[in-house]
Amino acid sequence: MKISDEIVQQVKEQNDIIDVLEEYLTFKKNGDNYLALCPFHSEKTPSFVASRKKQIFKCFGCGESGNVISFIMKYKNLKFIESIEFLAKRIGIDIVSNKINYNLDKYYQILTDSAKYFYVNLKQNSNAKKYLIDRGLSSTIMSRFGLGYSTNSFQGLSKYLINKGYEIKDLLELGLVNNKNGRYYDRFINRIMFPIFNYSGKIIGFGGRVIGEGLPKYLNSKDSNIFKKGSNIYGLNFLLKSFRTLESIIVVEGYMDCIALHNYGITNVVASLGTAFTFEQAKLLSKYTNKIYLCFDGDDAGKTAIIRTFDVFKSFINSNTLDVYVIEFSNAKDPDEFLNKYGKSKFIETINDSKTLIEYIFEFYRQKFDISTNSGKKGYLNIVKNILNQLDLVDKQYYINFIAVTLNIKEELVVSYVNNNFKISGLNKELVFEEKFIEKANIKAEKTLLNLMLNKEYLNYILNNNVDESLFSLDESKEIFRLIVDFNGEEDQILTYLEKRLNTYEAIKLITYFKENISIYDNNNITDQIDDFIKVLRKNIVSNFKEKITHIIKKYESNADENKVIEYLSIFTMISQLEIEDNLSEALDFIKSFEV
Ligand code: CTP
Ligand code: MN
Repeated sequence: MKISDEIVQQVKEQNDIIDVLEEYLTFKKNGDNYLALCPFHSEKTPSFVASRKKQIFKCFGCGESGNVISFIMKYKNLKFIESIEFLAKRIGIDIVSNKINYNLDKYYQILTDSAKYFYVNLKQNSNAKKYLIDRGLSSTIMSRFGLGYSTNSFQGLSKYLINKGYEIKDLLELGLVNNKNGRYYDRFINRIMFPIFNYSGKIIGFGGRVIGEGLPKYLNSKDSNIFKKGSNIYGLNFLLKSFRTLESIIVVEGYMDCIALHNYGITNVVASLGTAFTFEQAKLLSKYTNKIYLCFDGDDAGKTAIIRTFDVFKSFINSNTLDVYVIEFSNAKDPDEFLNKYGKSKFIETINDSKTLIEYIFEFYRQKFDISTNSGKKGYLNIVKNILNQLDLVDKQYYINFIAVTLNIKEELVVSYVNNNFKISGLNKELVFEEKFIEKANIKAEKTLLNLMLNKEYLNYILNNNVDESLFSLDESKEIFRLIVDFNGEEDQILTYLEKRLNTYEAIKLITYFKENISIYDNNNITDQIDDFIKVLRKNIVSNFKEKITHIIKKYESNADENKVIEYLSIFTMISQLEIEDNLSEALDFIKSFEV
């Protein structure tokens, strides 16, 4: 296929070089230019420069240069046409027979029309309106956020949209309607509707809240081509309208928190929408500010969510791209409640009292120990050293001092701990303790997949996706996997069956987890979720393998065995390449063949 010049032009125009390269490199801004470590040769100080104005990159170290298309060609080892296709896909356009097919525009239009429909409904429903007014929202704020209401009817929205000439298949695709036995029903019924905008202000989905009590409290659009939960941030469009770069951005968890802060005139606010904060979201925010305040709910889930953001934010903190602070409040479950109880000026005080993310994490763990005792001090040091070791040297020095002051011990002692000068024998209780708070993504995926496998339909889907026990890391998961696959009784008997056959402490804990979580899964995009979990497990195996190879390489390096170093380096490169290409099943095949 030959691609016309117009299409090449369009793809280039809509894929801003900085936006694209940022998906692969970590930039530091320097005037108009963006600086990074060159991906095409190895270096310790950045000599790779890209410019948003000129839409080009150049490396002053190795001489490589070009535009966004040639970067992708070189980086992903693609042909010209392939990289055009890749970049076209990235901005959501299909290249069909040398034409650009803007299939997404129609979807945006449907979503906008839906939002209008919900909006008008809200005006006409006094009960729904009263709910929002009772929660303290002004009508200006309701309009600004485009709040709406989905009526108490099964086909209100779908009839409206079909009348407008839209096709049912598109409504299904967008998750606005569900198909039950050949009949179509609205997904959102009798809910307050929050349109979700992307950063440019286009509606990409909805969240629907029950009026008052009820489950699920929120129902959200399913993930689609347009709506991708972890890559979007609620409310960012409102910030970008009024400012370019912001002094700071406050990140809250919920729709209502975000709207409440706006309602009180605090407008530099966005919401992560309750999911784990992702690297993509951090990157998006870092384009518009250098300072982030996290203001999550005060419960354990909110605290743990903050602790977990360390992994996401650490590279931004180390490269001075972001300063991250945590806002804490008491006597209210979330910022919305806090504002309604104590008002704006008290909230501003909590902002001024905020700690850095790292101080917050240190304080969180400090409370778990009695640091007036030696054993408490040791336990605490064992946890914080892991964090200290991930910091840039200047920050590390600063926080070593901070810890020394907290524990009232000498700085050198902290340094010794951090550098692992002490061997700790036996099981490290404190680390086990820490794992409780930071459940790794792969463990979570592993547990959830097993849980889903209790349902026959999901089980079939999972087994058809090439899942076997080698994908699981915990012994108890492997055992449960085997039992589930072997089980051939009635579905509702499976938990009893498992309980009878399992007797280790860990396995029983898992079964309890299943019981607690049996029905939390969202049926609509379950296969997408399963695909994601499987991917997490595969990625985990790949990264464990890479770690192993790195160890081997280091060993041969210290023995100066150059041939072996080269051999293992090429294995490492190959597996990394497959990983970059997202070709995980091939990567796993390779690992299996390597390990036998
Ligand atoms: N959430 C969700 N599904 C749920 C519960 C929560 O998608 N069943 C998401 C929503 O985006 C919600 C966010 O997680 O806004 C935070 O949850 P929560 O604090 O419970 O919601 P609030 O926004 O505080 O809602 P409200 O004050 O109306 O209870
Ligand atoms: Mn709330």
